[in-house]
Amino acid sequence: MPSCSLIFSLLFFVLQTATSLQDEGGMVNIVAFGEARCSDTSYWMKWHWLPMWRMLGSTGRINFEYHPFGIKTTCVDAEDSDDVVCDCHHGAKECVLNQLQNCVIEALPNFEQYMEIVTCIQGKSNITVAADACFNEPTLDRHKMVECAESRHGRKLFSSQEEHAAKLAPDMDWVPWILINGKRYKQAEDDLWQFLCDRFIFPRPIHCPKKIVY
Ligand SMILES: *[C@@H]1O[C@H](CO)[C@@H](O)[C@H](O)[C@H]1NC(C)=O
Repeated sequence: MPSCSLIFSLLFFVLQTATSLQDEGGMVNIVAFGEARCSDTSYWMKWHWLPMWRMLGSTGRINFEYHPFGIKTTCVDAEDSDDVVCDCHHGAKECVLNQLQNCVIEALPNFEQYMEIVTCIQGKSNITVAADACFNEPTLDRHKMVECAESRHGRKLFSSQEEHAAKLAPDMDWVPWILINGKRYKQAEDDLWQFLCDRFIFPRPIHCPKKIVY
């Protein structure tokens, strides 16, 4: 009869292997979709994304990608020209703000550079307010960014996000829609820092909160 201890050691071995496969020291890839005038998206960026980044950014373990494109958003080719016409969840002002965020992301492809500005634009009432508040730094030319947001190019950048949404988030029915290593997690909306620490970053960095919840 195979001894219990043999079975237990096998089980222990399997568990130990599974744990070590938790990608020690690996990168965590976060992808988020959101709408510029959606208050849940704004709240998440200001109170979850940014604080998490300030705590965990220095670990070098976070990769991030933001897609300013949400639900109830459609873009169709214009009938008489090489342009697109978009309809946004929170109206025309949201489309322009989403376009502005897309233009910033195009100008500064590295999320470490674009995310502070994209977060600043998030939730603003219109493009003038956003430009006044968010382009004071010399990093980006305000005039160029506003021009981009209101141009055919800005609309095309925005509408091209539809393909990313179809590919990365085909089930999206809510924003912010947050994917971690390719899978959507609702917990990442409410408790990003703790959730990443408990479930995704091994070994646990000292920047993490202590209590294990997830
Ligand atoms: C933008 O919003 C601000 C503050 O809400 C308002 O004063 C201004 O008139 C608006 N501008 C446009 C172009 O709608």
